[in-house]
Amino acid sequence: MAHTIKPLVAGNWKMNGTTANLKEPRLLAGMLRDVKLKCDVMVCPPATLIRRVKAVMRGSKIKAGGQDCHAAVSGAHTGDISADMLKDAGATAVIVGHSERRTNHKETDAMVAAKALAAHKVGLTAIICIGETLDERKGGKTLEVLTSQIKGSIPAGCTAANTVVAYEPVWAIGTGLTPTVAEITEAHAHIRKELSGVMGAEGASTRILYGGSVKPTNAAELMAVANVNGALVGGASLKAVDFIGIIKAYI
Ligand code: 13P
Repeated sequence: MAHTIKPLVAGNWKMNGTTANLKEPRLLAGMLRDVKLKCDVMVCPPATLIRRVKAVMRGSKIKAGGQDCHAAVSGAHTGDISADMLKDAGATAVIVGHSERRTNHKETDAMVAAKALAAHKVGLTAIICIGETLDERKGGKTLEVLTSQIKGSIPAGCTAANTVVAYEPVWAIGTGLTPTVAEITEAHAHIRKELSGVMGAEGASTRILYGGSVKPTNAAELMAVANVNGALVGGASLKAVDFIGIIKAYI
């Protein structure tokens, strides 16, 4: 049942972060040290920093994740990174199918599903992203787009334990714009229904995150929406003081 789902607040650093940024997860771990959290917290830095982010958060329950992986186990794929490499660096999860990957790298639903499978194969949780563009929303196609992304991007074998779905309307990412509570309610209810179609009973307890311009100022309102089981945070996850302001929705 929805009310038993433990939320997840995950930070996607995107292509930001070098040694100088390690002070932020260190600070975050310190801030959360004596806090009893009602959610899981994860940081997804660039792959180059996963091991070091884990090191500065040592002793805390904060997890680390990757931002993408290749569908293959290994091989001649210059510049790519495998799920196993992320796991070896200390990740427990990997984001797949982020809209920036779908746009910049022409990733299709089928490619996203293959990446999610690769993650599962090595025991990583796949955080599978979906979401409509502004044109699709204006055209009244949002729910239809979500249905087809869910059917195409969620492979067989997904469970509530190995899969998280992130609803990120493309037009809300990095723009300061967010859907209304009514729009999020409708989208998340639709995703919940469709998940049951592709995942069976597991769909009812799978976490559905909202992502797109989540800030300390709107987090409490967004996280209170039915079927919103946490957040995938971009810009506001880079600074510990901002990220904790979002996590506080669950303290
Ligand atoms: P912002 O929080 O910066 O809008 O980014 C959202 C996002 O794309 C997280 O994956």
